[in-house]
Amino acid sequence: MLDLYRYSGPLVRLLPPEAAHDLAIFLLKHGLVPAQPPADDSVLAIRLFGRDFPNPVGLAPGFDKNAQVPDAMLAQGFGFVEVGSVTPRPQPGNPQPRLFRLVEDRAVINRMGFNNDGLEVVAARLAARRRIGIVGGNLGKNKDTLDAAADYEKGVRALGPLTDYLVINVSSPNTPGLRALQGRAPLAELVARTRQALLELPAPPPLLLKIAPDLTEEDRRDIAEVALAGGLDGLVVTNTTIDRPGGLVSRHRAEAGGLSGAPLFEPSTRMLAEMYRLTGGKLPLVGVGGIASAADAYAKIRAGASLLQLYTAMIYQGPALVTGIKQGLAALLRQDRFASLADAVGADHRS
Ligand SMILES: Cc1cc2nc3c(=O)[nH]c(=O)nc-3n(C[C@H](O)[C@H](O)[C@H](O)COP(=O)(O)O)c2cc1C
Repeated sequence: MLDLYRYSGPLVRLLPPEAAHDLAIFLLKHGLVPAQPPADDSVLAIRLFGRDFPNPVGLAPGFDKNAQVPDAMLAQGFGFVEVGSVTPRPQPGNPQPRLFRLVEDRAVINRMGFNNDGLEVVAARLAARRRIGIVGGNLGKNKDTLDAAADYEKGVRALGPLTDYLVINVSSPNTPGLRALQGRAPLAELVARTRQALLELPAPPPLLLKIAPDLTEEDRRDIAEVALAGGLDGLVVTNTTIDRPGGLVSRHRAEAGGLSGAPLFEPSTRMLAEMYRLTGGKLPLVGVGGIASAADAYAKIRAGASLLQLYTAMIYQGPALVTGIKQGLAALLRQDRFASLADAVGADHRS
């Protein structure tokens, strides 16, 4: 099978990053990124939240914010796709430029600011698809909303019936005040209200919380407590970082926004391991941040992730990267004599 991205990918990367992204969505939407990934190795399958994931490698939110191409991305071999973040009303996001490639650092900085089509349009797109494959919905709040929880309640009502799981995103660095919702009291209230809205649905999907890598130790303990108190079915660890680790060399390294990609791998994996420890391995964790290889994926699993997500590495390597990661991960699991992915989750905490 012709790997179109191998030929068009370098050309796509000559475009400014946001134009490249829009072109990629266009090509995917029109079936111009053909893919026939090999069937998934059975060792990669995992059952979580009452759903069967054929493999743990998911597409992180931010790529398909508006649910234009979830099925095209599932067809590329992702085990699941998360659309969003979606806010109740459509909003334009921050002025451009707001997306920067840090090529030498294998990283990206973005300050998109939740540009998206809004719940109504996204819900209509999701309603129009055949429900095959696992699609999650990532919920945000509008920039000018004062009662944040009300926005997440709206998100639950609109996307809950159309998705396999929902994520409360309070960790994007580009919406003023958003990350403050990770503090104990606001978080407890937010989770309680969102959960209440969820329970009013005929078939409530699982509810996860996506957290930032830049939290204090107190924040992390508070989040683990709120999560274990029953309000959440899992945690997504982590979003982009506002930190700028030493060693970045690209000319865009001082741009404002959230940093993703290779430099995020180490801090987000450390945080993943800590959240696994703080939650006693009782809560499924989704490991995200800087995954670019099978070794990275395996390290996140061993640190405590039951599922994985990636975005930035795909900007540099194209979607064919997913097949490579899955094959390498299956080989690593077998090499260490794990009969299933679930057996390897958190293995570093036991050895
Ligand atoms: C351009 C861009 C837009 C993003 N938008 C969102 C978003 O809307 N909601 C969200 O939860 N995360 C968003 N993210 C964060 C990713 O989902 C992911 O958590 C982060 O990029 C780390 O993974 P990576 O290093 O594999 O990219 C975005 C990331 C990028 C690069």
